[in-house]
Amino acid sequence: MNILLFGKNGQVGWELQRSLAPLGNVIAVDYDSLEYCGDFSNPEGVAETVRKIKPDIIVNAAAHTAVDKAESEQEFAQLLNATSVEAIAKEAEILGAWLVHYSTDYVLPGTGDKPWVETDEPSPLNVYGETKLAGERAIQKFCTKHLIFRTSWVYASMGNNFAKTMLRLGAEREDLSIIDDQHGAPTGAELLADCTAHAIQKTLSNPNVAGIYHLVASGTTTWFEFA
Ligand SMILES: NC(=O)c1ccc[n+]([C@@H]2O[C@H](COP(=O)([O-])OP(=O)(O)OC[C@H]3O[C@@H](n4cnc5c(N)ncnc54)[C@H](OP(=O)(O)O)[C@@H]3O)[C@@H](O)[C@H]2O)c1
Repeated sequence: MNILLFGKNGQVGWELQRSLAPLGNVIAVDYDSLEYCGDFSNPEGVAETVRKIKPDIIVNAAAHTAVDKAESEQEFAQLLNATSVEAIAKEAEILGAWLVHYSTDYVLPGTGDKPWVETDEPSPLNVYGETKLAGERAIQKFCTKHLIFRTSWVYASMGNNFAKTMLRLGAEREDLSIIDDQHGAPTGAELLADCTAHAIQKTLSNPNVAGIYHLVASGTTTWFEFA
């Protein structure tokens, strides 16, 4: 089984290299890979990569994840999070391949005090959320065999995340000021990668599981408590 992994060096991508390895032949690419294009600013390039490799499964961990920066570079965020995602979704459909993709709690408005569920209507409050929602919709429209995992507050030992920033700032400063009025579920990249590998095994015997799933660690906390 050929598995094409996009975004191999991100927090989740790095862990996926480990968790997908027992499932088959993993071809892992990043935006600057030489042999195959993994650059999501090049929709035709990533589509061509899918056509060349002919994977049974595509796992996409590449994304424009800089939430604040997306506000000032909307077109670029749209290109990475939606246009190129649509391009690989169309190629996956032609091949009959599974497309596994990650989305975010930012597609939901985040108001209220109950956890959001998959049947709630998305309504993003920022550009990042809008572009990630556009990516979800492109996959739903163009690729039958898809798994979309919406997750939140991702942390890992590799890459940039809130936990690592707090560890760094904690070593540098006497005091830190952290908000305590936003609640969420910190989720390890390792957990996401392990669940992805498990889900892929399930999909192979049961294609009816295609769809969108909220995938976060159990329990909730605030940024203050997390820090
Ligand atoms: N991080 C979170 O808190 C969070 C929360 C909810 C959902 N998610 C979703 O989970 C998925 C994985 O996120 P993550 O936490 O692993 O993010 P990440 O660590 O930022 O990984 C994203 C990867 O995409 C790469 N990338 C940037 N520009 C690219 C381009 N033009 N072409 C191809 N790749 C490019 C990044 O490379 P560079 O690092 O070199 O820029 C990085 O390796 C994403 O779909 C994200 O939207 C993340």
